[in-house]
Amino acid sequence: MELVHPAPARTVAGDDLLDLYPWPDQGRWVRAMMVTALDGAAAGRDGLSGSISSSADREVFDAVRRLADAVLVGAGTLRAEEYGPMRASDEHTERRTAAGQAPAPRLAVVSGSLDLPWELPVWADSTLTPLVLTGPEAADDALATAREHAEVVALPDLEPATLLSALTDRGLRRIVCEGGPSLLEKVVAADLLDEADITLSPVFAGTATTPRTDGPDEVARLDLVHLLTAEGFVMARYTRPGSR
Ligand SMILES: NC(=O)c1ccc[n+]([C@@H]2O[C@H](COP(=O)([O-])OP(=O)(O)OC[C@H]3O[C@@H](n4cnc5c(N)ncnc54)[C@H](OP(=O)(O)O)[C@@H]3O)[C@@H](O)[C@H]2O)c1
Repeated sequence: MELVHPAPARTVAGDDLLDLYPWPDQGRWVRAMMVTALDGAAAGRDGLSGSISSSADREVFDAVRRLADAVLVGAGTLRAEEYGPMRASDEHTERRTAAGQAPAPRLAVVSGSLDLPWELPVWADSTLTPLVLTGPEAADDALATAREHAEVVALPDLEPATLLSALTDRGLRRIVCEGGPSLLEKVVAADLLDEADITLSPVFAGTATTPRTDGPDEVARLDLVHLLTAEGFVMARYTRPGSR
């Protein structure tokens, strides 16, 4: 992978990616990690983001997750992407525990309906039991099922501020929101996003499988921090203006 901005360009190797995607020492930090096609598609024709991704994009994705406390996703993403168990390698676990962190990131899924893929191994085989953040409309039988698989956090509403407070209340302050577009848009509209790590994929994929969103009331602008490129993909890091 080549770092092309800021100049001078250089090759990125080993742990460089961890340095390029740092977490602040204190306080809550919410970063988005998403891949987008040239036409704005968030997924390929199969409805999966993997089909517009690449090995370089996945390297960044893994680096961004590596020292996160929580991986926050909407139910739509979990239903589509069928996440695997949330674990860390021995090396990364060591690094995390040395830094006073839990051994692996904790998955946090936002779902009002609790209509979730309970058959996935992500529930039982993750290092830390996943959280399910739900609201007041969840039915009793759905809550009972959810509690068999996850730690259920029943919230008064599913506004982004409420969701993020539920995570920080549990000591989860380094938060990577992996989408999908619906959840991310709400976080942006609430002005709660600190960083956007966006990969531009060199394909037109068609937006038939990409969820339509209303868009925030106002355009939300971020500052460009760096650009990496490999395999024709561009991996950009943006942060909230004035945050660095
Ligand atoms: N390109 C990428 O990097 C990327 C990343 C992630 C996902 N994706 C793709 O995006 C698609 C899924 O995205 P999506 O936008 O449909 O789903 P999403 O944002 O992952 O999840 C939306 C769901 O979250 C729950 N929810 C509850 N409260 C919410 C709130 N306040 N804000 C938002 N969601 C709330 C609802 O679940 P209930 O219905 O259970 O109540 C809602 O249906 C898939 O095709 C996936 O492959 C792409």
